Amino acid sequence: MASLFARKPIEAMVPEGGEGSHALRRTLGAGDLILLAIGAVIGAGIFSTLGTAAAGEVRPTGEIVRYGAGPALILSFVLLGAVCALAALCYAELASMIPQAGSAYAYSYATLGELVAWIIGWDLILEYAVGNVAVAIAWSGYFESLVSPWFHMPGWLTHGYWDVKASSDPAVQALMETAPRVAGIPFLVNLPAFLIVMAVTWLLVIGVRESTRVNAVMVVIKLAVLALFVVVGAMHIDPANYKPFAPNGFRGIHQGAAIVFFAYIGFDAISTAAEETKNPQRNMPLGILVGLGICTLIYVIVGAVATGLVPYQQLESADPLARAFEVAGLTQFSWIIAAGAVVSMAAVLLVFQYGQPRIFFSMARDGLLPGWASKIHPKYRTPHITTIVTGVLVALGAAVADDAATYDLTNIGTLWAFALVCLGVFVLRFTDPDRPRPFRVPAFWFVSLGGLAACLFVMRGLPASAWVAFGVWLVIGLVIYFLYGYRHSVLRGGGRPPAGPAPKSQAPIEGKQ
Ligand code: ALA
Repeated sequence: MASLFARKPIEAMVPEGGEGSHALRRTLGAGDLILLAIGAVIGAGIFSTLGTAAAGEVRPTGEIVRYGAGPALILSFVLLGAVCALAALCYAELASMIPQAGSAYAYSYATLGELVAWIIGWDLILEYAVGNVAVAIAWSGYFESLVSPWFHMPGWLTHGYWDVKASSDPAVQALMETAPRVAGIPFLVNLPAFLIVMAVTWLLVIGVRESTRVNAVMVVIKLAVLALFVVVGAMHIDPANYKPFAPNGFRGIHQGAAIVFFAYIGFDAISTAAEETKNPQRNMPLGILVGLGICTLIYVIVGAVATGLVPYQQLESADPLARAFEVAGLTQFSWIIAAGAVVSMAAVLLVFQYGQPRIFFSMARDGLLPGWASKIHPKYRTPHITTIVTGVLVALGAAVADDAATYDLTNIGTLWAFALVCLGVFVLRFTDPDRPRPFRVPAFWFVSLGGLAACLFVMRGLPASAWVAFGVWLVIGLVIYFLYGYRHSVLRGGGRPPAGPAPKSQAPIEGKQ
C-alpha cells in the first residue's frame, strides 16, 4: 500500500530540457511572465466557448444541458479569475519545490507519490489531448467563416457525427438525413479539424516548435483581433440586449463559468517557469496575478461587447465572435476576426500538441506506460511515436466529436488536476515542511484550501454527462495503472531502465506543463 505513494527522489529526476546538466538561467521578470500568460491562455475559450456559456445548451430533445449566463457572463469571468488565481499560486509553489522544469505529473511524482502522479498525468491527457480536440473543432468553425466568401464546404464535411447528434440547430440536424451514407451510417466528419491536427502533428514530428518570438507575434495578433472586436463592436451595442442581465440567475453564471473555464486553461504555464524567474518570491505571484487580471479584464470586455451586440441566444455557435458580427451586419469585420482566430488557435494547437507527447514520454520513462512511448526519433530528436499516436487520436476525435462535450471533459479533468495540486500543497506543508520552497504561497491555509474548494465548486457547474465521462475516464486510468504501471514502475524496480535520452528541449513557453 505504502508503495503506491512511493516518491521519486528529486536527484533521480532526469532533466527534461535536453542535453547535459540543466540549470535554467533566471532571466524572466514579471513582465515576461505576463506575456507568457497571455500567449498561453487566450485562445479557443474566448473565441468559442463564450457562445455556449452565454446562451446555454439545449439538446434536440428539449432537455436543458446547461443554463447560460446571458450578459452576466462577465461575472462568470470575474469568478474564474479569482478561482484560477488561487490554483495558480498553489501550482507555483509545487513547481518551485522541484529544481527542474516539468509538468504537474513530474512535480507530483517527486512530492505526492506515484498514484497521485499517475492520476494527475492521466488527467493531463484531458487537458492537452482532449482539449486539443475542442480547439481543433473551434478552429474549423472559424476556418469555415474565413473561406466562406469563396467556397462553401458541404455540411457533412464540417460537422462531426456527434456534433450533429448534439446540435439543436435544425439545419445541422438535417445533415443526419442528407449526408452520404457508408454502410448505412451517415458520413459526417469535420474535415478541416482533422487536417489541421495532422498538419500540426507533422510539424512537431520534424521538430518545429513555438519560440518566444512566435509567442510574442501571437500575443500581438490575438490582442489586435480582440481589440478590433471590442472597438467596432462597442459602436454597435444595443443596450436592450443587456436585459435581462442574468436570465438564469446565479445558476447560469455558475454553469456558464464551468464551460468558459476553458478560456483560462494554460495559466499554469507561467507557474512552471518558477525556476527561470528572477526573484520568484516577488515576480511569480505578480506575474500570475497581473497576467490573470489582464486576461480576465480582456474577457470581461469582450463578453460585455458580444452580449451587447446581439441577443445572447444568438451566440450559440462554434465561432460566436464572427457570428456576432455577421448577425450585426458587420460582415467585412467578421472576416478579419475569423482570420485572427484561425492563426491564434493554430498556435494553441501547436502548444498543446507539443506538451502531450512529452507527458506520455515522462510516464513511459518512469515505466508507467510501455517503453515504445519513450523512443526518440534518431534524426529529429522528437518523441515521434507519442507525437504521431497523440496526433492521430486527436485528429480522429476532432473529426467526429461534439465540441461542448469535449470542453466539459477537458475542464473537469483540468479542474480535478488543479484541485489535487491545491490539496498537495496543503498536505506537503505538514508532511514535508523542510523541503526548500523558492516560492511559498502567501496565506497558505486560505489559498490552498480555498483553491481546492473553488476548483470543486466550478466542477459542480458541469453537466451530469461530464461527470459520468470523467468517472469512466478515471476508472479506465486506474485499471491501466494497476494492470500495467504498478507492475512496471521503474521506481519500484519492476521495469526497465530509462530508455534513451530526453527529447529535444522544451518549448520556451513550456506548453502547459
Ligand atoms: N485557454 C486556452 C484556450 O482558450 C486553452 O484556447
